[in-house]
Amino acid sequence: MADDAGFSNSSTGSAPIWDWAGENARRWASQADRLDAQLAPVSEILFRSAALYSGATVLDIGCGRGATTREAAGIVGLAGTVVGLDISDALLSEARTAATDIANIEFVLADAQTYSFEPQQFEIAISRFGVMFFADSVAAFKNLHGAMRSGGRLFAAVWQPRDRSELMDAPLQLGARIIAEHGHVVELPAANGGPFSLGEFETIERVLGAAGWSNITATPHELSFYNGGPGTVDDAVVLALTIGPLRLLLNELPAEVEAAVRAALVEDFTKRHDGTGVVLRGSIFIVSATA
Ligand SMILES: C[S@@+](CC[C@H](N)C(=O)[O-])C[C@H]1O[C@@H](n2cnc3c(N)ncnc32)[C@H](O)[C@@H]1O
Repeated sequence: MADDAGFSNSSTGSAPIWDWAGENARRWASQADRLDAQLAPVSEILFRSAALYSGATVLDIGCGRGATTREAAGIVGLAGTVVGLDISDALLSEARTAATDIANIEFVLADAQTYSFEPQQFEIAISRFGVMFFADSVAAFKNLHGAMRSGGRLFAAVWQPRDRSELMDAPLQLGARIIAEHGHVVELPAANGGPFSLGEFETIERVLGAAGWSNITATPHELSFYNGGPGTVDDAVVLALTIGPLRLLLNELPAEVEAAVRAALVEDFTKRHDGTGVVLRGSIFIVSATA
């Protein structure tokens, strides 16, 4: 579906890649520990930027399995509250289970674009890669703006375009090459769609500006990731073959092609393993804005 800023939230084919309410979320949930470990460098920068404090009221947008929601709850303490909001029942039920003993967390199953927030509820909104999948980005950021107190701040980690991140691009390009060598024609998803839809500063500024936010910045960070977290080559291979566009490409193809892609990934990731994990670079922005 294309939103009013002209972004696509679908794959090149008919099946939606970023189907957060369905199969995609179940695959994500199965890899959540690996993903949380992989994304630790992003959390570190996000929390350093957001500078949460004791007593703050915080919204975690697209909180998924709630790793950042729990971290925020620990910082704001019992004098504050954190609401984790997500559209995925599968991910949110895991978030709820992991936070049963945490008193200052509430989880809301809802679409951030349409949910009726209590007006001016939050001082700070954070997001680790949860704000790039809205059907209508301007409408969503407008709705989120209404949930913020005047002067409230947004801090969101977003990916730069896919071709600036080995982490996202290298396994996909390698997989596509092996698939082509086996005589199958596949079309890669756009390098600026889905998770990369807020990958350029001009886009961030246009979308957030149209939604009423001000003081909009996007600070670039070039990070070194362990693919699938610190671990084995197999951890990284399983992750690459389970989530994202490569999985969808392989769903359409015979098992021997997947076996060949797996072998190529093992070879490539083995070269990138530094003794702790498979190292791949990635480029993000930390977006900040004021309500
Ligand atoms: C890339 S995941 C990130 C999850 C989590 N923040 C993390 O870092 O592990 C994107 C998340 O955004 C959520 N999401 C996508 N569209 C949404 C929407 N319209 N409203 C609320 N959440 C949404 C998805 O369900 C998913 O949990």
